[in-house]
Amino acid sequence: MPLVPLSRSANLELALYTAGDAVAQVRAGRSLSDALAGLEPAAGLRAAVQDLAYGTLRNLGLLDALLAELLRKPVKPALHALLVCALYQLRARPHTAHTTVDQAVRAVSRVEPAARGLANAVLRNYLREADALVTRCTSDSAHYSYQQWWIDRLRKAWPQCWESVLNTGNLHPPMTLRVNQRRLTAEQYLSKLGEHGLAGELIGTHAIVLERPLPIESVPGFGAGEVSVQDAGAQLAAPFLDVQPGMRVLDACAAPGGKAAHILELADCALTALDSDPARLPRIGDNLARLGLSARIVCGDCASPAAWSDGGLFERILLDAPCSASGVVKRHPDIKWLRRESDLARLAVTQGRMLDALWQQLAPGGKLLYATCSVFPQENAQTIASFLGRNGAARRLPLAGLDEGQMLPGARHDGFFYALLQKH
Ligand SMILES: C[S@@+](CC[C@H](N)C(=O)[O-])C[C@H]1O[C@@H](n2cnc3c(N)ncnc32)[C@H](O)[C@@H]1O
Repeated sequence: MPLVPLSRSANLELALYTAGDAVAQVRAGRSLSDALAGLEPAAGLRAAVQDLAYGTLRNLGLLDALLAELLRKPVKPALHALLVCALYQLRARPHTAHTTVDQAVRAVSRVEPAARGLANAVLRNYLREADALVTRCTSDSAHYSYQQWWIDRLRKAWPQCWESVLNTGNLHPPMTLRVNQRRLTAEQYLSKLGEHGLAGELIGTHAIVLERPLPIESVPGFGAGEVSVQDAGAQLAAPFLDVQPGMRVLDACAAPGGKAAHILELADCALTALDSDPARLPRIGDNLARLGLSARIVCGDCASPAAWSDGGLFERILLDAPCSASGVVKRHPDIKWLRRESDLARLAVTQGRMLDALWQQLAPGGKLLYATCSVFPQENAQTIASFLGRNGAARRLPLAGLDEGQMLPGARHDGFFYALLQKH
């Protein structure tokens, strides 16, 4: 993402102020995308605000620990959020340290004028003692920048690779495209990228990672429906579901329609795209229209089929269940701080209920693909083991390349879990 020239002072003051506001809202429980949408930074500042807010949330464990070392007593949430953003900027761009301190202090006067002196002292003390301060921040949360319960659960679930899962989650995500095979092949699209002076690499059947992220309006062929933006791990769902032409297919949690569109790109089928969130539903239609595809789009709760079912059973069902989203923190670093440990048990109950209800909608011999973007077994292997324990007629089928169903996040894809179940 190109940065606006943050050394231009007025830009940096306003960007710090706005990013601090967004981080404070996340601390109060709001998602970062909602917070940023509400703030609507001026067009020229948007990239800078995003960089500051995302970067701060990626590194928040360490930044919080540093600030705790630097403060003698607690400060109000708005000031705290602004100071962690300023610390992030100081660490990310040390060569502009003095401008940052100056502009951060100005931004503080928009939030809490009486705290200008305190902010100035805190940031200058950080610059004087940075290395020693970092050495004193020894907690796991400071080291990995996740909540302690998250670290503990991952360490237990993935004893061989928990650290790499944590560290991968703090990387910048790649921008990955899915080539619409109804329009062109992946090779043809790679050539097209080359004609536009762009480069990408094929990493799945239809998945191309761009060498550099681009604004969506600059992606060749996007408006014409030649490609969609979709992570490579998410692109496994539609092929796993094994849809054949003419089948009746249900996408039970479909919005915004990424996987629904992929299913329709792969096979001419009768797809019902269901979602319970009326605000997200229109995005399914928009996405399908751009790609020249269509489906029956329905608003409803997938765990209460009586309200939306037309009585017919489905030969394929995709349940892309609501989950902790712990596998996609590269894209959504706010999730690392918004989730509570108790969410996992609550989500697992919902996931189990959805599975039980949707199983009744599956035709004999039909297949149901359970998917989450979680890395916690409680929402994945354990949800499926409980379901199989309750349903003798369900058989779990192997998935190529995914032994236990878990795809842990990597530098070029998010983390996902898949389980394909067939009804006897
Ligand atoms: C992981 S997202 C789905 C992403 C989508 N499959 C895609 O690939 O673009 C989960 C979706 O489940 C929906 N959802 C949550 N509870 C639901 C329910 N009880 N019934 C139907 N949809 C639900 C949410 O509104 C959300 O859009």
